[in-house]
Amino acid sequence: MKTTSDLKEKILELKKRKNAVILAHYYQEEAIQEIADFVGDSLELSRKASQVDADIIVFAGVYFMAETAKIVNPNKKVIVPDVKAGCSLADSCQPEDFKTFLAQYPNHTVVTYINCSAEIKTLTDIVCTSSNAKKIIASIPENKLIIFAPDKNLGKYLIAETGREMVLWEGSCIVHEAFSLEKLIDLYKKHPTATIIAHPESETHILKVAHYIGSTSGMLNHVKNSTNDTFIVATEAGILHQMQLDNPTKTLIPAPSKENNTCACSECAFMKVNTLEKLYNCLKKEQPEVKIDTSVIEKALVPIQKMLSIN
Ligand code: 13P
Ligand code: SF4
Repeated sequence: MKTTSDLKEKILELKKRKNAVILAHYYQEEAIQEIADFVGDSLELSRKASQVDADIIVFAGVYFMAETAKIVNPNKKVIVPDVKAGCSLADSCQPEDFKTFLAQYPNHTVVTYINCSAEIKTLTDIVCTSSNAKKIIASIPENKLIIFAPDKNLGKYLIAETGREMVLWEGSCIVHEAFSLEKLIDLYKKHPTATIIAHPESETHILKVAHYIGSTSGMLNHVKNSTNDTFIVATEAGILHQMQLDNPTKTLIPAPSKENNTCACSECAFMKVNTLEKLYNCLKKEQPEVKIDTSVIEKALVPIQKMLSIN
């Protein structure tokens, strides 16, 4: 069995020889974040993917993110450590069901969160991420009706923030719905000076008590720029690695989950399917490769490019 440092060395050597770049989400395990050329949130990763000049993109995240990288780079090889790194939120919105749903609401502008499949993106007018969702909604003329999918929690947050009416798809993320309000309040009572920060995929009752709501990078920046020294963090636990590196003296407490205390509910099991060993194997064999029909790429690129142009 290879050690972590053996694997890292071999990955670096293969990466150089094959002119590959490794893009990773902040929810990846620490060793993957450490070896990556670029670590970011969904928006930063899609922006970065549209700018790389390597021949191969190794995408360490979940599948919809790797698909986005392929859509913006149809001529590059995009490979992933494990094709089973899915997303409960993306899976909650299947194309045939979504088409039936859309047919009920003609003349609506369809905004989809980037956490959806390439096929759902072909049925979309404009894509958004948690970093730019308010900006994307603000770019839609006031007289236009809006459908927002697939995350109902982010959708409800956007309705409250923007004052716009939206028809919501009933999807959600199992990780961000795992937090317990009751336990969070108890924890806060023990740390009354803490700042509660939350991702907008969390449920409304969690967002109501949060002092700051933002995307993965939004939360990282908030903690870095804040003068406070204690934070209760309601999002996927992988973010804590970078947050602690950025703020070695600050106290970061993961928000408690509804299940018993031994459960790793705030870890995204899909993200954690990727390992350093799988990353090494995928770079060595140049597979599994992300393959998408050209017609899907062409259609899905339009709402992604619209989003990127707004940023
Ligand atoms: P962001 O990277 O946009 O914060 O999204 C979090 C997430 O759930 C990714 O799947
Ligand atoms: Fe999907 Fe939730 Fe995991 Fe993000 S954290 S990849 S939304 S299941």
